[in-house]
Formats: sequence, structure tokens, C-alpha cells
Amino acid sequence: MTTQDLRLTIAAELEKTRARTTALTEAVDEADLIRQHSPLMSPLIWDLAHVANQEELWLVRDVGGRDPVRQDIDELYDAFKYARKDRPALPLLDPAQARAYVAQVRDKALDVLDHATFDPQRRLLDNGFAFGMIVQHEQQHDETMLATHQLRIGDPVLNAPPPPPSQQRVTGEVFIPGGRFTMGTDTDVWALDNERPAHTVDVPAFHIDAAPVTNGQYQEFIAAGGYDSPQWWSSRGWAYRQKAGLVAPLYWQRDDSGWHVRQFGRINPINLDEPVVHVCYFEAEAFANWAGKRLPTEAEWEKAARFDPATGRSRRFPWGDETPEPRHANLGQRHLSPAPVGAYPEGASPAGVHQMIGDVWEWLASDFDPYPGFTAFPYREYSEVFFGGDYKMLRGGSFGTDASAARSTFRNWDHPIRRQIFSGFRLARDA
Ligand SMILES: [Fe+2]
Repeated sequence: MTTQDLRLTIAAELEKTRARTTALTEAVDEADLIRQHSPLMSPLIWDLAHVANQEELWLVRDVGGRDPVRQDIDELYDAFKYARKDRPALPLLDPAQARAYVAQVRDKALDVLDHATFDPQRRLLDNGFAFGMIVQHEQQHDETMLATHQLRIGDPVLNAPPPPPSQQRVTGEVFIPGGRFTMGTDTDVWALDNERPAHTVDVPAFHIDAAPVTNGQYQEFIAAGGYDSPQWWSSRGWAYRQKAGLVAPLYWQRDDSGWHVRQFGRINPINLDEPVVHVCYFEAEAFANWAGKRLPTEAEWEKAARFDPATGRSRRFPWGDETPEPRHANLGQRHLSPAPVGAYPEGASPAGVHQMIGDVWEWLASDFDPYPGFTAFPYREYSEVFFGGDYKMLRGGSFGTDASAARSTFRNWDHPIRRQIFSGFRLARDA
């Protein structure tokens, strides 16, 4: 790619991402922007200015070597400085100030882009990495803001067409023969530090479900008394189920006509064919035990998603190396729910595993650890400080994840009690 083509690609990604951020923050009034909709989340106005502050730190100051725009507010928008629950009490920029700051930083960042040479000797600039990192960061906050919208109580403000219907019956499991495959990447230019380096992993043979667990299957677990049977739960999981009073996925509610779900301010009947979403790791683990299976490991998930036995190589995405199109996967908030199982036959992996990318993040059995040979880049706080913590891995992205952060090497992690994220799961078992 020429320097000018790379600049155009980056500018298009920045613009597309900002349009999403703007839509998510303009959908609500000023009171809702400032309000904390849940102690689990920041006020939307914090995310907005935080996104711009990161853009300023990395693109304007570091890459561009320019003077700070608002050095005085760095601390307020440092995610490590204040917990989410404490952010509303900070002297944050008000909506007008935040929007002015966002625009001012973007002007300067685009000017830096106009002059950028992407010197391969400077790793932060090689192939426009810093710009790609900032695009992915903003998209990740957009997904977080979408989760805040889902927590928000009030009339619906977001609209989108329903996801496509199922086109193929997808059931049962797929056998993945044992053997080595390449996990992680050295070649994906915007891949983050924790996805690197590429390395060989020998994975024993296993079976994995061709589709994520659906609402219909999950409803059977509830009906079978799954939430009242400690035998299916780990001791930590059962303690949390008791403490939090879990009886169903977050946002499910029951009346005389059965289970319904609140989705972005609308009450809808449960769609039995859609992947279950808004369950925590402990619920996924209990369901797996009840079903006589287990959650996949991270290596199993990635092998099922990427490994092409015909060529012996690992693909960027289950369907190949090409960037996701709407026909491949339910990504990018084009829809406001997961799509029914079988909606994306063109997105299946070589092994015939469906909907690994998009729809719901999938909880995995693995903890968050570095790959062999890991080096932190460009800062320890991106990944390294989380290694070895109380986190479980999530893979594949959700309907709220942008394509720029949904390649099949992309690693996400969260506490095992998290439910407000767009998380579901699929099952595996030993061969
Ligand atoms: Fe952030």
C-alpha cells in the first residue's frame, strides 16, 4: 500500500468510527449523557472525552510531536486513575466542552496524518499502527457505550433493522483432529501486543459445537432447574449465583406468557434461535456442566476458527483473509441483537463452525496469559498488567463489535461475573 493509500484508509476508518461515536452520544439528551446509568459503567460523556484524550496522547502528542491540547484533563480521563463508579463525581468536561475538545483533537490528528510518513523504523508508525490502535480503542469504547445504552432505562433511542434470518440448519458438533496450528499473528499489521507473536500450538483432538448456545437451549437449562442445582456450578460460581440472585440471563424477565427480554428499551419475546447473550462466565460454565460438556480453551477456539486443514495455515477470519462483509458476520452494530443460528453460512470456518465472529463474545475456559515471547507494546497497561488476574477470555466479537476489532486472533478478557457485556458461549468436549 502506498503512503497516500494508507492515509486514505486510516482517514476512512477514523471517520467511520467517529460517526458511530457521534450517533451513540447524540441519541440521548444532555442529562442522559452525564448520568451514570449503572455503577458498572462510566457516564457516556466520560467515554466521549476519554476517546479524544487517548487520540491526543498517542496521535497528536506522541506520533505528531505537537503541543498538548488539554494536558490539564489527562488525569480525569485516565482509565487507571479512577474506577468507573467514581467517574461521575469528577469535574468532567460538560457535553459542549467535550464535543469541542473531541473536534479540536480530531483536527490536529488529521493534520498529523497528512504529514505522517509511516517510517517502518518507528514501530508506532509502521503501517500506521498508532492510528489503527486508536481506531480500535474508539470502537471498543463504542461497544462499551452500546452496553451502557442497553443498561439505560427509558424510551428506545437506537434503531436498526433486525438481523438476517437463518438460511441453513446448523446443529450438533464438529470434530477437530489433533495436531499443530499457528496461534496468534506476526503479520496482521494492526494486531495488538497480546495477539503476538505467532506461535505453534499442538491441540489434542476435540469436538466443538457448530453454533453458539441458543436462547432455546438456555431456556431448557432454566426449566430443568439449572439455577437451583449447585451440582452444575463451580463453588465460586454458586457463591456468586447466590449473592447476585441469578435466575436467568441479564435483561430476561418472565410473565404469564413466558420469557421476554429488554433490548435497548424495547420488551421483546425471546427468540429461541438466537445465541444467548448477557450471561457471565459462571453461568456458561454451569450450563456446560449440565450439558455434559465444557467450554473450549482459547487454543481450541482459535484453531476451530482459523485453521485450514487443506493448506495447513491459519486464516485471518474463519472464511478467509478478506475483511468482514455484512454477508460474513453480524458485526458493527448493524443490528441490535445477535442473529439466529444459521444466518451466516458464508462466514463458517473451514471445519464448518458457524458464527464464531460476531453475534456474541464467547466465554472460554482459559485465563488471560501472554503468548510465549510476548513483549508489551506500546505500553504495559494495554495488556501486561492484566495477565494472571481474575479474568476469563472472550473471543470472536459481538453484534456490537466493529470489524476492525474482530479478527480471529483478537483477544478480549473480563471478570467471570460480567454480564452487561454482549457475552454468550459455545460448548466443546474432549474427543
Ligand atoms: Fe480506553
